[in-house]
Amino acid sequence: MRWNDLDMTKWQESDINTDSLWLINERDKSGKHKNVYHGNFIPQIPNQLIRRYTQENDVILEPFMGSGTTLFECEKLNRKYIGFDINPAMFEYVNNAMGDGKYENNFYINHCNSMDEQQVDKSLGNANEKLGIKSVQFVLMHPPYMDIVKFTDDENDMSKIDNINEFVKKFKIICENSLKHLDKDRYFAVVIGDVYKKERYCA
Ligand SMILES: C[S@@+](CC[C@H](N)C(=O)[O-])C[C@H]1O[C@@H](n2cnc3c(N)ncnc32)[C@H](O)[C@@H]1O
Repeated sequence: MRWNDLDMTKWQESDINTDSLWLINERDKSGKHKNVYHGNFIPQIPNQLIRRYTQENDVILEPFMGSGTTLFECEKLNRKYIGFDINPAMFEYVNNAMGDGKYENNFYINHCNSMDEQQVDKSLGNANEKLGIKSVQFVLMHPPYMDIVKFTDDENDMSKIDNINEFVKKFKIICENSLKHLDKDRYFAVVIGDVYKKERYCA
């Protein structure tokens, strides 16, 4: 089964990173990428993952959308996108950044708590209707790294959790809420950093 558009007969010419060390020079600041959100990831990360694990017109679901880095890459790479975030300011920021251009019918974003199954299902239902789809082909998660960067005051914000066991318990719920919408035999990627507390590694 194919899940990307890469020509494997020309793998030597490909710039896709397949080893465990990704060396990325300068942050991509082109187009809509403004690097305004503390805690965002560099656009080359979702770019690599999208090209490696999806084909054109596939749908990417991102339950921690943040400032829209993955969405901007999806637009560039002709993929459809569904994104949720608990931070209303980011929902507005991304909405404004996207405007209502040609890509309008290819993405759906919502201010939503990804830990709440009912909210996720409802939002996914609306997204499916808007995009004319039934499921997603890739799930990408870039959650808070516990409480290293505090995003909002919402009690369901994962960045309020300073305990590893509690974090894992809540993160598992978000995984379950999202992964039930992922097609069989497709991929799920998590991008997360190390957390040290009292000089000890904990996540
Ligand atoms: C590390 S940031 C993602 C940054 C994003 N990749 C970018 O490039 O801008 C994590 C995001 O998760 C959001 N978040 C935290 N808890 C959440 C929850 N329960 N449901 C949805 N979003 C949540 C935060 O508001 C924050 O925007």
